[in-house]
Amino acid sequence: MRLLFLGDMVGKTGRNIVFEKLPGLISDFKLDFVIVNGENAAGGFGITEQIHLDTIDAGADVVTTGNHVWDQKDTVSFCARYDNFLRPANYPAGTPGKGSGMYIARNGARVLVANIMGRVFMHPELDDPFKAAETILEASPLGEQADAIVFDFHAEATSEKQCFGHFCDSRVSLVVGTHTHIPTADHQILNGGTAYMSDAGMCGDYDSSLGMDKEEPINRFISKISKGRMEVANGPATLCGVAVEISDRTGLAEKIAPLRMGPRLAETMPDFWT
Ligand SMILES: [Fe+2]
Ligand SMILES: [Fe+2]
Repeated sequence: MRLLFLGDMVGKTGRNIVFEKLPGLISDFKLDFVIVNGENAAGGFGITEQIHLDTIDAGADVVTTGNHVWDQKDTVSFCARYDNFLRPANYPAGTPGKGSGMYIARNGARVLVANIMGRVFMHPELDDPFKAAETILEASPLGEQADAIVFDFHAEATSEKQCFGHFCDSRVSLVVGTHTHIPTADHQILNGGTAYMSDAGMCGDYDSSLGMDKEEPINRFISKISKGRMEVANGPATLCGVAVEISDRTGLAEKIAPLRMGPRLAETMPDFWT
């Protein structure tokens, strides 16, 4: 099965490139399943209901999020209405919405997707992400209730991401990091057959600080005094994600490659689907 994951979509320019390119990628590559992280889709901060619906319309099967999930005030009310909208699973019990779900891919496969957030350098008060993963995997093991499993691990520290990947190895089809907005070059298949990449990168303007206009972040580093709001950098965006070929027999990964389209970073496409 052919799966594409796209990293944090940042602002209008990030949305535009995803909405423009995703339908063609789905038809050209005959993609079976697509996941898009949308935590920064609304002006860099959170996601609106309309943007969620537009992302699904563009071809995403599931939208994941992260620490910015609640930045738009309406998200707490709309999140539970959509089975294909995920917030991090390791928020406290009783948090609106859900952190994992089972979906049917275009090839008929049952795909379990979970959004889990790291704690190092970000939210130490969250529930243990490793325990959250264990609970989800115990309920729906790969090869039994699920034909493929994807974890979007939204975290800051590459150490926590790597350890989380190894912890899930042989039990998950893909562990992909999000949140840092910078694509890493460590995409690989771990010893047990889990595809892994520390960060998928963002879909946004890379002439920026993590997708935001660079002037104010630079000012804050230098002066420590805020001069204004953070605004999205609205130059042409680069689409960043990761492509994975998953075995229909085992649910483990057979191939992994980064996918980048756009003006700033070196473009690359998975060669195993052409
Ligand atoms: Fe993000
Ligand atoms: Fe984030």
